[in-house]
Amino acid sequence: MLGMTVLGADTPLYLNPKATPEQRTEDLLARMTLREKLGQVTQIEIHRLMTGFWNKGPLDSSWMQTVLVDYAVGSILSGGDGSPMKNTPEEWAKMTNEVQRWALKSRLKIPVLYGIDAVHGHNNVIGATIYPYNLGLGATFNPELIKAYAAKTAEEVAATGIQWTFAPVLDVGIDPRWGRTHETFGEDPYLVSALGVSQIKGFEESGKVISCGKHFNGYSVPKSGKDRHPAEVSPRELYEIHFPPYRAAIKAGMSSVMINSGAVNGVPAHASKWLMTDILRKEMGFKGLVVSDWEDIAKMVTYHRYASSVEDALALSYNAGLDLNMVPMDVETVDQLERLVKAGRIPVERINDAVRNVLLVKFRLGLFENPMVDPNMAEKIIGSRESKAIAHKLAQQSMVLLRNEKDLLPLSKDLKNILVTGPSADSISRLCGGWTIRWQGAQEHELSGKTVLEAIKEKAPKAKVTFIHDARNAKRLVKAAKEAEAVIVVVGEKTYAEGEGDSETLQLAANEEKLIKTLQNAKIPFVLVGAAGRPLIIPGGNKAAPAILWAFLPGTEGGPAIADVLFGDYNPSGRLPITFPTSVNQVPMPYHTTKAYKPMFPFGAGLSYTKVEASGLQVKPKVGMGQKVQVTVDLKNTGKRAVEEVVLLFVKNNGSSILGMSKQLQGFARVPLKPGESRKVAFELTPEQLSVWNKDMKLVQEPGRFTVSVGELSTQFAVEK
Ligand code: GLC
Repeated sequence: MLGMTVLGADTPLYLNPKATPEQRTEDLLARMTLREKLGQVTQIEIHRLMTGFWNKGPLDSSWMQTVLVDYAVGSILSGGDGSPMKNTPEEWAKMTNEVQRWALKSRLKIPVLYGIDAVHGHNNVIGATIYPYNLGLGATFNPELIKAYAAKTAEEVAATGIQWTFAPVLDVGIDPRWGRTHETFGEDPYLVSALGVSQIKGFEESGKVISCGKHFNGYSVPKSGKDRHPAEVSPRELYEIHFPPYRAAIKAGMSSVMINSGAVNGVPAHASKWLMTDILRKEMGFKGLVVSDWEDIAKMVTYHRYASSVEDALALSYNAGLDLNMVPMDVETVDQLERLVKAGRIPVERINDAVRNVLLVKFRLGLFENPMVDPNMAEKIIGSRESKAIAHKLAQQSMVLLRNEKDLLPLSKDLKNILVTGPSADSISRLCGGWTIRWQGAQEHELSGKTVLEAIKEKAPKAKVTFIHDARNAKRLVKAAKEAEAVIVVVGEKTYAEGEGDSETLQLAANEEKLIKTLQNAKIPFVLVGAAGRPLIIPGGNKAAPAILWAFLPGTEGGPAIADVLFGDYNPSGRLPITFPTSVNQVPMPYHTTKAYKPMFPFGAGLSYTKVEASGLQVKPKVGMGQKVQVTVDLKNTGKRAVEEVVLLFVKNNGSSILGMSKQLQGFARVPLKPGESRKVAFELTPEQLSVWNKDMKLVQEPGRFTVSVGELSTQFAVEK
């Protein structure tokens, strides 16, 4: 058995798996020196342990000795690009085994907790299945399948000896200028909560990998739309929009929270006792592990200019509630911490609590009993058929059909002449986005799968399929387009992560705009496929093309999934999880808090290849305070194709003590309907869902009148004392 501990009479309690995690934690804590405690609350990145540092190289025994034995740090992470020199599942497993082997040389033999950004599959590992990014998952409105994806990813992550994923992002994606919008589940707190919870359960219920809700809090709304820029957020917006996903995630058993790198209302989140202790721990009841984001203690000095030294920043942050510092390179931080504790600037009890939160995670994971993995298993588990099947389904369901004039789609498989054009048509990397193999995105040869172009060729085997990358040679493009029976344009964005993805215009790259305008000017009808992790401003807006299909970032199964939809092998069911603005000057313009809401495509928009009619929206006209409210609606598929209809239930509070949200999503369901089939769909609204955050920021239910709506249908009910 790997890592089996033989229990003798003198085995310390903390090494006895029969004791509870709490008992083991207290026993081990009591045995630790101050320096060992300070090492335990310090996280170092894997490059620091390599002979070549940022240039990689094998693990360096002197650095391993320093970091894992002398300083005995508690956690290691692989940040973006933090892969072994040879990026294979086996080498990942060997690398983490070697880290654990050295960690077990420490005096108390404490294994490290190894963390990674598995944010759309085990996306750093070559060969892993890359799933649709969260914004596309938002369009699926499918918590069950997202949970299955997370469970499958947990297996892949654990197989490489990693026990912690820095996921899900629980930021509410309101401003598409922000370079991380694709990492969010969209602009609605109810949807972000539901899908975040499903990912958390998928990870945590594996018993092998813990989740990490990020980035707490208010990270997604920098005033400038630029990553890590200051956010000015009213308490109301925090309580109504940005806090709810964390409340739900805590209830769902999220083990850790990562703090926002930015500043909120003038205070860097990493120094905010209000956020990290008063709200997260006291008000929301979070008892787990709080980890910093990358280098954010030092950035309180160098970026926010908020602390005058790293020591001041360390004291501020640990005293505000931080448990684990993702330094991630300077292990001497432990010496600085020691000076601070000895000078009484950080109470030992605060450090003890932080150590407890790290150790409890390790004991609950069984990490002391099984710190190592079998490298051969990793090769077998990564990129499995099952993971590809789940990713393919999610990619299909993540697509949103925004326009389909004269039923241009689906295309016939008997076509003889097809023109495919656009930079995202022959790239898999652009379908995956950033944090894929590499921080800023994969090189094409590092990914396996089919491009949209390859998948189209397979769907229409009789067709001559011409590919022209863009409109550099406009004449050639137009000539080919005129000769073709169908023209498919696939545009999107280059890959990016974090601030590299910030956009001031939401426009396509010039060559992609030129491509679209060239075809429009030549009056060529075409199918527009958008493979971008955010809404973009397309020339021609919602009339840019007779058919518009938004695929977001569908991952390595994206090419075949897009072809499935284009040729009718999948009836599109996705609904927009984020508003598509007509102009960048409108943003941020979330549907729930915008009065003059005039988007290019609204939140919840989405067509299919059939017609589903809703009728008979029913709700009791009067209910008492504290009562649940049943809402039903009848659906009928009046078309010729089966569909999984996504039904969205919105509720509007018509008059409370607060001018709250215009309307808000309060329920959704995926309803399978065969042609001609009818179904009654039932929703239940809880008193909490009908409550408001009053002027004292307390969640209270008040009597009032409410409107529920499904599609074009709406009806009212009253809540009475
Ligand atoms: C990054 C990101 C965070 C990620 C962390 C570790 O800067 O902000 O989302 O989990 O560093 O890679």
